[in-house]
Amino acid sequence: EKGGYEHFMMKEICEQPEALRKTISPRIRDGHIVLDDIELTAEQIRNIDKVFIVACGTAYHVGVVAKYAFEKLLKIPMEVDVASEFRYRSPIINDRTLVIIISQSGETADTLAALRESKKRGARVLSIVNVVGSTIANESDDVLYTWAGPEIAVASTKAYSTQLAVIYMIVLYMAEQLHNISEQELQAYIEELQRLPEFVAACLTDKETIQYFASKYFNAKDMYFIGRNVDYAASLEASLKLKEISYIHSEAYTAGELKHGPISLIEDGTLVIAICTYDKLFDKMMSNVKEVKARGAVVLGITTQQKKEAVSQEADYSFCVPKISDFMLPSLSIIPLQLFAYYVASMKGCDIDKPRNLAKSVTVE
Ligand code: M6R
Repeated sequence: EKGGYEHFMMKEICEQPEALRKTISPRIRDGHIVLDDIELTAEQIRNIDKVFIVACGTAYHVGVVAKYAFEKLLKIPMEVDVASEFRYRSPIINDRTLVIIISQSGETADTLAALRESKKRGARVLSIVNVVGSTIANESDDVLYTWAGPEIAVASTKAYSTQLAVIYMIVLYMAEQLHNISEQELQAYIEELQRLPEFVAACLTDKETIQYFASKYFNAKDMYFIGRNVDYAASLEASLKLKEISYIHSEAYTAGELKHGPISLIEDGTLVIAICTYDKLFDKMMSNVKEVKARGAVVLGITTQQKKEAVSQEADYSFCVPKISDFMLPSLSIIPLQLFAYYVASMKGCDIDKPRNLAKSVTVE
């Protein structure tokens, strides 16, 4: 059932192009995003004045990416929170609030409680779920399924990718309904979205480079991931992936915060993975790479083809992903880092599909 792979995690990593195709293609018709699985009307969309995204773990990290996309294209105030915090806050919610709940399993206890709390306070709930007929799917006003197929490995990979794709589709759909986007812009985004499976497949072709890098550093005690904007969002997910399956201590920091504390952790040989795919802050990222290098860090830079040379001049190693619109970049930059976590855990002899202390679905608080 592992289809020839040693672990479900690798199988699921490699299934991402196909999972994306299944999630995206039925929802693009004649150059438009068609979400006919939901009932949210154009009028209801126009009425929304606040969006919350609530989830746990990897699904929460999808929300962190979503914030950049929502702000850029929709100009609606939006907040992202982890469900275990959100459910015990006093969030300001009313009938003009849209709460987007993200969950692979559809059974996560805190996420379900956040959904119920949101409904009680009058919000409309749209959920992004992988498991058909799960409790979260059943209790939501609208559901958009990620057609990722069963995800068995505890470490989420194809759920993350497909949840991101659904977020991009929601944002583009709402932008069109709100007339926030020109026809030309919309077409350009839709075209990229259609090519996302192909771009992800391209990121999966050079596993050897990542494997080689893992072979040099799998004994590290700590690793740090840095990035800005969407690259920071991807750093959070990359760091979680690494720590959950390899048990290596890792943290994700916004590169601009380094100077405010974390840079004191850098010493000779400390491994820093710098995600530098976001063009607008590329130069700032390069300065941060120089700063950590000057303190002895070994740096792996994840970047786009266009910036390959600039990154290889500063970093010790680099890996390139295709260029795509800003808010979709985490869909590509995460791929080599899922592979990195996998290879590091494999070289350490860890139980990749069932890491210690973790359950696939957290149904208790
Ligand atoms: O089933 P859910 O998406 O609600 O699960 C949320 C988290 O428990 C989950 O993403 C967890 O963080 C994964 N192990 C991450 O790889």
